[in-house]
Amino acid sequence: MEQRRRLLRWWGCLVFAVALGTFLRETAAQIRYSISEEVNEGTVVGNIAKDLGIDKNELKARGYRIIESSIEPLFRFNEDDGFLYVRRNVDREVICERSSACVINLKTVLQKPLEIHYVGIEVLDVNDHSPSFSEREKRLEIFESALPGAKFQLQPARDADGLQFSIQQYKLIQNDLFRLEVEERGADRKTPFLVLQKKLDRETVGKHKLLLTAIDGGRPAKSGTIELLIEVLDVNENSPVFTQDAYRVTLNENVPPGTVVVQINATDLDEGANGEIVYSFGKEVDVSLKRLFSIDSQTGEIKVIGEIDYEQTKNFEIDVRATDKGPMPLFVDKIVTIKVVDLNDNIPKIEVTSFSESVPEDCKIETTVGLISVSDLDSGSNGKVSCFLPDDAPFSIYPSLQNNMYAIVTTSPLDRETKSLYALTVIAKDAGVPPLSSQKTITVVVSDVNDNKPEFPVGPQTFYIIENNKIDAPL
Ligand SMILES: *[C@@H]1O[C@H](CO)[C@@H](O)[C@H](O)[C@H]1NC(C)=O
Repeated sequence: MEQRRRLLRWWGCLVFAVALGTFLRETAAQIRYSISEEVNEGTVVGNIAKDLGIDKNELKARGYRIIESSIEPLFRFNEDDGFLYVRRNVDREVICERSSACVINLKTVLQKPLEIHYVGIEVLDVNDHSPSFSEREKRLEIFESALPGAKFQLQPARDADGLQFSIQQYKLIQNDLFRLEVEERGADRKTPFLVLQKKLDRETVGKHKLLLTAIDGGRPAKSGTIELLIEVLDVNENSPVFTQDAYRVTLNENVPPGTVVVQINATDLDEGANGEIVYSFGKEVDVSLKRLFSIDSQTGEIKVIGEIDYEQTKNFEIDVRATDKGPMPLFVDKIVTIKVVDLNDNIPKIEVTSFSESVPEDCKIETTVGLISVSDLDSGSNGKVSCFLPDDAPFSIYPSLQNNMYAIVTTSPLDRETKSLYALTVIAKDAGVPPLSSQKTITVVVSDVNDNKPEFPVGPQTFYIIENNKIDAPL
């Protein structure tokens, strides 16, 4: 049973193959037509009856028809008049590849007797499309370090029309920086390039706008445009620059830690990290300076962190540096000069240079009994010291020829028998505002000299003698 069915199938195939051979033999020559795309519905494509050489009535009787491969045929055969008509819009760009001839082959059949005829209809292109870019604008980023001659490929425009109606040229709006170059990449593939003509400089102009136009080959030509937005990318080519030529400040000594001495400030024309600045001390700054001052890397503030003593250092010169954060950082150095202002913070000091242990009471007036020296670490009037003896005593203090030396001299005769010891308070006072002073007490001993005759006490002396006194007994 199964075997018989298989045999039957084989037999059927054989019959079909023979029939196909006959069929092909009966195929007649091709008929060719051409129409423009986008013609109106109902436009005549051609006269089938005439081309086949068969009367139109006979054509109808023989059952002429188009073997459709689509449910929405493009063409319609009118069996009453024997003509082929356009049935719906024929868009070449939909039907065909854009760069080759577009021919639609209709397979038609005469059924009695069986004949196949091919009708070739060439669809002619019309310039019904404009060139178009995939975007309305295109951003391009170009480093400002790009050299003249650098090429930047652009996305080509597309034009659905083929051949002569495709894009024929590109035009770039007139400008100094770029020119346009178009490369042919295979047939019908033009690729535009921007070619840099001169060096860009972001710091001068950071953005450029150019208009690129694609033009097709129609008459009149159709065109499409794209706006090219060129952003010039920064290259770290600018060093930081300090906003001041010199930083000179004064600073009182003894200021508390945390006092801001000065804020340095640098700017950098570059963008982003290339223009961000960090501040630091220069490489030469030694440890002792770093114990006294700090620098804020972000703000550039220099602050006191140690003890500023005028008597120790009157001027500081600090190397400071501003560095940008570029991949290859650029920097600039500057000197901050700090002049320390003296404050009256040192008390005058009194030192007894030489001193007589004692002075004879008969010494001459203006005898020097002692030499003292005074000193004050402060400068200017803060260190200008004067000395005096406040007590009422027969002594005076005079400045000597030597700086800051004073002599204590007698101003009147001394008398040990009246006063044998003087405690002299020397006061040294500076001229600061307010002044500072110190004092020292010096003891002067008046030594005895035989300056008095023996003398009897005044008035009558009464002596009493006990009777029967012994001879030689004292009275
Ligand atoms: C630094 O200088 C720039 C330019 O002069 C200025 O805009 C900025 O405010 C200054 N910064 C400081 C912290 O002074």
